[in-house]
Amino acid sequence: PYPYFAEMRERAPLLWNERMKSWLLSRHEDVAFALKNAALFSSSRVQVGGRPRGVFQVESVAELITADPPVHTQMRGLVSRAFTPRQINALEPRVRELSRELIAEMTSRSEFDFMDALASPLPVTIIAEMLGIDPVRRRDFKRWSDTIIAGLIARLPTGEEPEAATRSRAEMRVYMTEVAEARRREPRGDLISLLVQETDGVPALSPQEVNAFTMLLLIAGNETTTNLLGNTLLALIRHPEQYEALRRDPSLAACSAVCEETLRFDSPVLGLSRRTTQEVEVGGGKIPAESMVVLLLGSANHDPRKFPEPERFDPTRDTHGLMSFGHGIHFCLGAPLTRVEAPVALRELMEHVPRLGFSPRQSEHLDYGPTFALRGPRSLWLQ
Ligand code: HEM
Repeated sequence: PYPYFAEMRERAPLLWNERMKSWLLSRHEDVAFALKNAALFSSSRVQVGGRPRGVFQVESVAELITADPPVHTQMRGLVSRAFTPRQINALEPRVRELSRELIAEMTSRSEFDFMDALASPLPVTIIAEMLGIDPVRRRDFKRWSDTIIAGLIARLPTGEEPEAATRSRAEMRVYMTEVAEARRREPRGDLISLLVQETDGVPALSPQEVNAFTMLLLIAGNETTTNLLGNTLLALIRHPEQYEALRRDPSLAACSAVCEETLRFDSPVLGLSRRTTQEVEVGGGKIPAESMVVLLLGSANHDPRKFPEPERFDPTRDTHGLMSFGHGIHFCLGAPLTRVEAPVALRELMEHVPRLGFSPRQSEHLDYGPTFALRGPRSLWLQ
């Protein structure tokens, strides 16, 4: 998509797309402006291609990511106590241990699908453990996550959810309600216990809200981190000199720099949707009130006005102003978690695995799946 983005930024920084029934904004300055102005660019009642944006509204509870202030501010306050830097940093040893296990299993085979072996199980397992999902239900949890996300992706073009996803959501709702009620009676040290208790005057979440929030974590946190890991490996394989440099210095700082540059270079989320609340002048034109707008994060990250020589993959560059986690009030709640997971897993790879390359099974043409908004290879066969 990057050559198209470049053309849009130069020739039509504000462009109407008939298929998406949305205005597209492609310059860094305009994307940042829209994300900073939630009063003009609302996250609620957003439609994509003329249809309501799916799964989020399916659960009857209001959702963090589709709420505007003041509801958003209150909800964000409720759930952000589960994502403090202290809680997230404490996960590092466990992330390292799990990465090591998954990598050992992966490299016991002569060729493997990196997505299936490491990029996908790592984030979903960590989130299951954080939440305090019963170990015997973890397989179910992974299946729910996989089918719900696959369902979300499948329904984007058609508007219909596959039956497996509907069933998973129902199963998950039953289980999460049970867990929320159990933790309310008998708290443990996990994230759900924290959310169902009243702390320092912050009200408890209802079991229904716990389920909706868990689903948001699965949707917002798993596929994205999985994509980041896949995109990172791809970028390294395609830039052998950077791969070599990282193998020579696989420090956490160097791994973090590579992940940050991958976030900029090949963003796991290419675009976010918003709805204008009034007429807005932006990108050299006017968007009418009540219009859908897609903010092209992937394009903002490649805007040479912000990032010189944007098509160069350069882990030493300053990535300040990166749009991959959004900007403003909806800035990714899970960014600190990803910023632990991805570099720690990458360091384990650099330290314990000889240099990887494509296996003969990997076709030249990578499959990125049907959705435009999320970007990462569906599979990545390596040896
Ligand atoms: C929000 C990207 C990982 C949870 C967002 C947004 C983006 C994003 C672009 C803004 C959405 C908007 O403004 O409409 C990413 C990327 C990730 C990642 C690229 C990994 C590479 C995670 C993880 C979690 C998470 C690991 C949690 C486990 C959330 C939540 C929100 C959010 C709850 C909503 C915040 C709000 O509306 O206030 N993420 N995310 N994300 N993300 Fe992430």
